[in-house]
Amino acid sequence: MTEIVINGTKQPADACERLIDIINRANLDLPQVCYHPQLGPIQTCDTCIVDVNGQLVRACATTVSPGMAVNTSGKEAKAAQTEAYDRILRNHQLYCTVCDNNNGNCTVHNTAKLLEVEHQRYPFEPKPYEVDNSHPFYRYDPGQCILCGRCVEACQNLQVNETLTIRWEDPHPRVLWDGGAAIGESSCVSCGHCVTVCPCNALMEKSMLGHAGFLTGLSTKALDGMIDIVKGLESETGYGAIMKVSETEAAMCSTRIRKTKTVCTYCGVGCSFDLWTKDRHILKVEPSEGHANGVSTCVKGKFGWDYVNSPDRLTKPLIREGSGFREAEWDEALGLVAKRLSEIKARDGADALGFISSSKCTNEESYLMQKLARAVIGTNNVDNCSRYCQSPATVGLFRTVGYGGDSGSISDIAQADLVVIVGSNTAENHPVLATRVKRAHKLHGQKLIVSDLREHEMARRADLFISPRPGTDIVWLSAVARYILDNGLADMAFLDEWVNWHEDYRISLEPFTLQFASQTCGLPVETLKKLARMITEAKSMCVLWAMGVTQHGNGSDTSTAISNLLLVTGNYRRPGTGAYPLRGHNNVQGASDLGSMPRFLPGYQAVEDSEIRGRFEQRWGCKIPPVEGLDNHQMVDAIHAGTLKGMYICGEEMSLVDSNANHVTAAFEKLEFFVVQDIFFSATCRFADVVLPGSPSLEKEGTFTSTERRIQRLYQVLEPLPGSRPDWRIFQDVANRLGAKWNYRHPSEVMDEIASLVPLLAGVNYERLEGYRSLQWPVAPDGTDQPLLYLNGFAHPDNKARLFPLTWREPTERPDAEFDLHLNNGRLLEHFHEGNMTYRVAGIGKRTPGTFLEVSPELAKARGIEDGTLVELTSRRGTVRVRALVTDRVHGDELYMPMNSTEHPVNALTSSYVDPPTRTPAYKETAVHLRILEPKGPSPLPKNNHRYGKPTPQAGVEVERKWRQPAYRPPGNGLVQIQTK
Ligand code: SF4
Ligand code: SF4
Ligand code: SF4
Ligand code: FES
Repeated sequence: MTEIVINGTKQPADACERLIDIINRANLDLPQVCYHPQLGPIQTCDTCIVDVNGQLVRACATTVSPGMAVNTSGKEAKAAQTEAYDRILRNHQLYCTVCDNNNGNCTVHNTAKLLEVEHQRYPFEPKPYEVDNSHPFYRYDPGQCILCGRCVEACQNLQVNETLTIRWEDPHPRVLWDGGAAIGESSCVSCGHCVTVCPCNALMEKSMLGHAGFLTGLSTKALDGMIDIVKGLESETGYGAIMKVSETEAAMCSTRIRKTKTVCTYCGVGCSFDLWTKDRHILKVEPSEGHANGVSTCVKGKFGWDYVNSPDRLTKPLIREGSGFREAEWDEALGLVAKRLSEIKARDGADALGFISSSKCTNEESYLMQKLARAVIGTNNVDNCSRYCQSPATVGLFRTVGYGGDSGSISDIAQADLVVIVGSNTAENHPVLATRVKRAHKLHGQKLIVSDLREHEMARRADLFISPRPGTDIVWLSAVARYILDNGLADMAFLDEWVNWHEDYRISLEPFTLQFASQTCGLPVETLKKLARMITEAKSMCVLWAMGVTQHGNGSDTSTAISNLLLVTGNYRRPGTGAYPLRGHNNVQGASDLGSMPRFLPGYQAVEDSEIRGRFEQRWGCKIPPVEGLDNHQMVDAIHAGTLKGMYICGEEMSLVDSNANHVTAAFEKLEFFVVQDIFFSATCRFADVVLPGSPSLEKEGTFTSTERRIQRLYQVLEPLPGSRPDWRIFQDVANRLGAKWNYRHPSEVMDEIASLVPLLAGVNYERLEGYRSLQWPVAPDGTDQPLLYLNGFAHPDNKARLFPLTWREPTERPDAEFDLHLNNGRLLEHFHEGNMTYRVAGIGKRTPGTFLEVSPELAKARGIEDGTLVELTSRRGTVRVRALVTDRVHGDELYMPMNSTEHPVNALTSSYVDPPTRTPAYKETAVHLRILEPKGPSPLPKNNHRYGKPTPQAGVEVERKWRQPAYRPPGNGLVQIQTK
């Protein structure tokens, strides 16, 4: 800590703090148009000039030093600030009263007010460019662009998509997409960072335009006329008077615009933001201070909300009648559900019923669904979709370190010296988390290793990209661990103090020589040695993995091998280290945490343990069966076997996303009674007897738990669409119809009950989660949480981790003479899972209308395939038809098919082979035969898809190039240029 003097007053400061941050902390007025704390100094606007010890400097680019005397409002500094701002207004018309960005948070407006600008010293000079409306979600108005470069910095160095630049050398610089393409045909991935950080109306969400202001819903002609009137007044009255009018308008807007905090409902990163709404119209998503994301979002979180107001929303319960459905009132539908569930239970026992909870629903809802199954029905047959993806990672961590969750936070990943990504297309599946890796790699020297079948974006950015044979990651991971131990490179001090490791682990490594790994994985020995070198030379390492690991026959063992390697190298218990199984759905972590699992009561408390069971029984007033129930696969098998007769699924598109989908749908057809609760008539609903209309996240309160184990509150943004009900209410309605006496008035009461029964969440309550506050479990009764796990030891009784012995098994299915190609599958950036929500977002559907089959250029040449060729894929389970896309993202005989299709689901091809410890399907181990049906056809991916764009990477805004222009003069005498980041 140090101390500096600002405007005559002493201010405490951190030695490496930016001067502008201290000035802001002291609440001193200082203009600052281009500065954004999450972007760092850009230095394009020159409005933050202050006097430091008699010299003019930019406050945003100046680091404090002891003895600094700062004057923010001296004559020269003030003159420089005003001159800089006058130059900005050359690029911007202040027509605030009729601007959709007139909401009190426009930096350009607020700076004009702060500097008491009355008249424009330099006349406004329109740039010779048209407004670009070519993107579905936002527009760029070069005429209003002040060239601050925030958007460029955000795109280049925060999102790191590297689409945006400003060519300062141009006679009329403007923001450029891919160096000059139309936005809608560029590499822009629609993350919205640029729009979010734009300090004025140059970049605006289209959903705001004509909707946000009181006077802005006019025709362009009328609006232009209004703008002319406003400009005409300026010369007579000055801006002061006009500002007063515009502020009145802003105050009026604030009465009808609601800003509600919520948490993203798509992936497990856990981005949170404010939703701006006017009635049911979603004006925009405004991220700012979420712990996981700050100003970041991806296309789904920023723009993917149309589905909430889709005309396809279910608003009436449906009851099967013959081969179709009829609409029914809630009373009738609930009565029928209770009657049929009771009948089956009375006749065949409680275990003849099965329950699948939703990883899109809230923690409270997951808890209530498993309580419905256990306490009201009396069965442990309850599961969630973590069985399809996350369970193997959880087992790997249980075996070694004790907690089934990420060992640190996203900030740990960002600060790691080395990040290793295994089987995760992070840039598409966990986009905001990927931005932290991309930024650290680009700006801060972080090293990156990627192991994957596909050469996706992270692979292309990696310092070392390896592509081992499908399903063999466990081999190279174990071989590298063995090599490290054999060569004295292990962290022995860490192992001695923190790890129980027995000879059986060392013996289990015997087969994993470098030669064996080289042969099995198809990787050169030198590459394996390089891996070991990079891993042991790193001061801190995080390993990230996802379904490219877990959806294999040895998913649990590979996850264990990852954790073993982290232990051998001492990469736990420190900032910037640890294991990060990236959770797929927004609340898949929470669905498991809250007990929607056949073996665990909430908080991973074993159902077989009588003491634990007793606590729940006492609180719930019931008897809980003492034996593990069926998981979702076993439920399907039990239907086929005739022992499971009734099922209740909430918010899961199980008929498409479970593997070997034909086997699953054949089971559903056999069910005697089937309840599906969802917001749309999903493909799974086709098999239902009763469909209950639930509510999406925006229409309810509750909490989600993200991949970081971060519990966050979502607030109700919109009223439930009439006829639909929040899912927690539906569970309560069903339970009470079955004789329970639940009386939860708000999800907070459910959370209080959870906290009383689950030690992991003992200190969680809604007060502690108010607004943007969050907690990362485990949470002690006093509210202390653990952003970084294991600081006090590992979660085993002796506080020590365990190295777990492993053996290698061949993948469950490999290409052979008949099914000669390996088919891989996964998600796309812009579509979530099968696409039930994202296909209802028009802008997404237009640019990515369906699925496709990625074929390598080599294979395409050999088989006569081109973009648009219609092919038939056949596996031992089924057939799908799909159009090909030739791309070098895949190599050799590898095929890849995104799963976003309800008509041609890839799971018609996948198998029922599983990872034995978890029974997670080996989705990624599928052999297929390919047949060409139509050699030519339309490309499945429109040419305006971002994948065809040509990014323009550069260091950032590159303001030095602006300073080098002959027309540039620093505003203020003797400004010290500090070229800093
Ligand atoms: S990728 Fe597109 S939306 Fe995202 S910051 Fe870049 S230009 Fe903006
Ligand atoms: S479009 Fe970019 S450069 Fe222009 S004002 Fe907005 S953030 Fe600044
Ligand atoms: S990264 Fe995930 S949580 Fe964040 S906005 Fe995108 S989908 Fe939502
Ligand atoms: S805030 Fe723009 S130069 Fe400092």
